[in-house]
Amino acid sequence: MSSYVVVGSQWGDEGKGKIVDVLGEKMDMVVRFQGGNNAGHTVVVNGEKTILHLLPSGILNQNAICVIGPGVVVDPFVLLEEIETLNKRGLNCDHLRISDRAHLIMPYHVKLDELQEQKLANNKIGTTKRGIGPCYADKYTRIGLRVCDLVDFDIFKERLATTLKIKNEQIIKLYDEKPFDYDELVSKFEVVREKLLPMITDSVELVNKYLDADKNVLFEGAQANMLDINYGTYPYVTSSSPTSAGVCEGAGVSPKKLDTIIGVVKAYSTRVGEGPFVSELLNDMGEHIRKVGAEYGATTGRPRRCGWLDLCVVKQAAIINGLTDLVITKIDVLSDIEKIKVLVGYEVNGKQYDYIPASLKDYGNSKAIYKEFDGWMCDITKVRKYDDLPANCKKYLKFIEEYTKTRISLVSVGPDRENNIIINEL
Ligand code: GDP
Ligand code: IMO
Ligand code: MG
Repeated sequence: MSSYVVVGSQWGDEGKGKIVDVLGEKMDMVVRFQGGNNAGHTVVVNGEKTILHLLPSGILNQNAICVIGPGVVVDPFVLLEEIETLNKRGLNCDHLRISDRAHLIMPYHVKLDELQEQKLANNKIGTTKRGIGPCYADKYTRIGLRVCDLVDFDIFKERLATTLKIKNEQIIKLYDEKPFDYDELVSKFEVVREKLLPMITDSVELVNKYLDADKNVLFEGAQANMLDINYGTYPYVTSSSPTSAGVCEGAGVSPKKLDTIIGVVKAYSTRVGEGPFVSELLNDMGEHIRKVGAEYGATTGRPRRCGWLDLCVVKQAAIINGLTDLVITKIDVLSDIEKIKVLVGYEVNGKQYDYIPASLKDYGNSKAIYKEFDGWMCDITKVRKYDDLPANCKKYLKFIEEYTKTRISLVSVGPDRENNIIINEL
């Protein structure tokens, strides 16, 4: 059995989409297991860019079955739009399957996401406003609607009638906004339902069948460890578990069946939205990294906050996910920086620590402890062998391995599918 998990090790946007696409060539199946269209995963093939939000990044490989798993929250309107965009480019999505257990992001979830952010004002999370939090909240308070409810439309209508009463009351009483019309929602979903029905399946059985038949299955994480609902910088997190444990929960797979667990690490840090970011660079260096790394959100277009690599964050991701391998991306972005810093600890009130505490009071006020490296000051985008990398670049990589106690198996030196240095075959 060969199962692969690809997860983000920082605050998202590490280049997971690219890595899933690179590995996707040898996969029989690619499965999303959490999150929704808050994700923006970029794949570049021969200079052509595709940004995927809900579709697994393996979708460009026509030979791999792509699965949207039970733990994902699905906005059917966004999904159909994404499929249509690919269809227009001559790419079919007949190899896509959607779990009957996945929850539906409803139009009122999107609205409530926006309204809650407004209400939170200065304390807003900085969400992607895609309805992710409100949808997961309904799932856990057990008033959500699932993909399987679309199969038997009478159930959908019945459940919607009950839930909408609660949602509309919130919208009117809490936010003084216009309620959603039941009949309008029903007719909208009648249309999407027809299109989705052929893709709806019991994905748990399908995925486990593939695993048991020794096929190559890749689980594609969205977001990252520091955005995890349990282990991230709560409340500045997303509403799911983007960790390897999330695979078991969100795809219906036993932990015994997970083999290779790959943490994608950007060679520096970025964060979108609010929340503490100790190694953030609010200066020309931050601007420089944003410009060279083209650090603008793939989903919302927001400028990403940029900073030095925070190895405490990556170490925490290695522990929580049980990472077997690291993939370092975007190291080419650091090529013309003379002195590169790496965060190796935090200091608050004279006390030093190297982990992320639960309370943001201490964490938000802590000062970074850095280790400095000499830069390599040359273009590395054409390098394809580890030995051909400049010595200073290798020193940087070695330190990451030592600090995290995890081997680096691939170094990505450019956005295209081809721009890689393979150290250990994955
Ligand atoms: P994801 O959400 O983790 O899939 O990452 P995003 O797609 O949101 O952001 C990563 C961005 O970096 C995308 O624009 C990628 O095309 C780009 N990228 C990925 N790997 C590399 C790399 O090694 N070098 C450079 N320069 N860009 C990369
Ligand atoms: P990928 O998969 C970066 C952030 C949002 C916000 C917080 C909560 O492309 O790495 P949400 O809409 O999920 O309720 O927002 O999480 N966020 C991401 N940041 N990459 C992502 O996904 C993200 N998905 C959510 O900016 O701070
Ligand atoms: Mg992204």
